[in-house]
Amino acid sequence: MSRITVQALSPALGAEVSGMDLREPINRQTFLEIEQAWHQHLVLRFRGQRLSDPQLLALSRQFGELDPPGPNPYGKPFLADFPEINVISNVKVAGQPIGNLGDGEASWHCDMTYVERPPRAALLHALELPDGGSDTYWSNMYLAYETLPAGLKQRIAGRRAIHDASYNSAGMLRKGMKEISDPREAPGAHHPLVVRHPDTGRLALFLGRRRNSYIVGLDLLDSEALLDALWAHATRSEFAFRQQWQLHDLILWDNRCTLHRRDAFDGNARRIMHRTQIKGDAVIAGA
Ligand code: OGA
Ligand code: MN
Repeated sequence: MSRITVQALSPALGAEVSGMDLREPINRQTFLEIEQAWHQHLVLRFRGQRLSDPQLLALSRQFGELDPPGPNPYGKPFLADFPEINVISNVKVAGQPIGNLGDGEASWHCDMTYVERPPRAALLHALELPDGGSDTYWSNMYLAYETLPAGLKQRIAGRRAIHDASYNSAGMLRKGMKEISDPREAPGAHHPLVVRHPDTGRLALFLGRRRNSYIVGLDLLDSEALLDALWAHATRSEFAFRQQWQLHDLILWDNRCTLHRRDAFDGNARRIMHRTQIKGDAVIAGA
């Protein structure tokens, strides 16, 4: 038996995994325990992990093939030596951002669902943090679907939505994208609003991001009203877990059944996170 312990962090989702040194390869028995905890809690937190970039990559590869970062607003990888690593930071060096998302709020989203095969997982490692704030929240989309009023379930059954590729979660236009005002014309993948998780078989609400979303086949105003209702439900606080970061936290989340957002923070403070993501499978329609 391994010596890890798993402790829930909120009623909805999130668990703390203790007793591991993530710089070491994970043995098979422990890996299976982590995987089971991950499927149960969706977001796992490992505290006190001090990982170099190669160690973060080695850890991440144990969860599957790496998925390179999406295009950032500046058009080249933030870390030339480690292009598989994305940097999430507000820090600027010589006027140039060293990472994505700045210091503003990152509104609710899941990552890169504007592609046909979005990443299944992401790992986010805190390397430098402001004194307070910059909390990140995850929300459980199994719960959101299961508790959705029957009338809303019915209205989205068999429907797909556009997952806009043009703006990132900080509201910045991605490199090479045109500004979009009519969501019906947004570039990006069309995914079922209800998906079946390929590992757990459970149904989840799959919303992606609110901006420029559109439910295919509906009048624009009906789509807007239905999306507003779905988003209001999915982002209710009882479905969420709030992560108050400590230095060297490592968070692993399931990108197929959660949403996440981040609070804005003091622009004079420094926040640096290094992050990887794992390739996902084709999205499966759930209803
Ligand atoms: C991300 C993200 C939020 C944060 O890495 O995908 O949304 O807290 N990060 O930095
Ligand atoms: Mn994100």
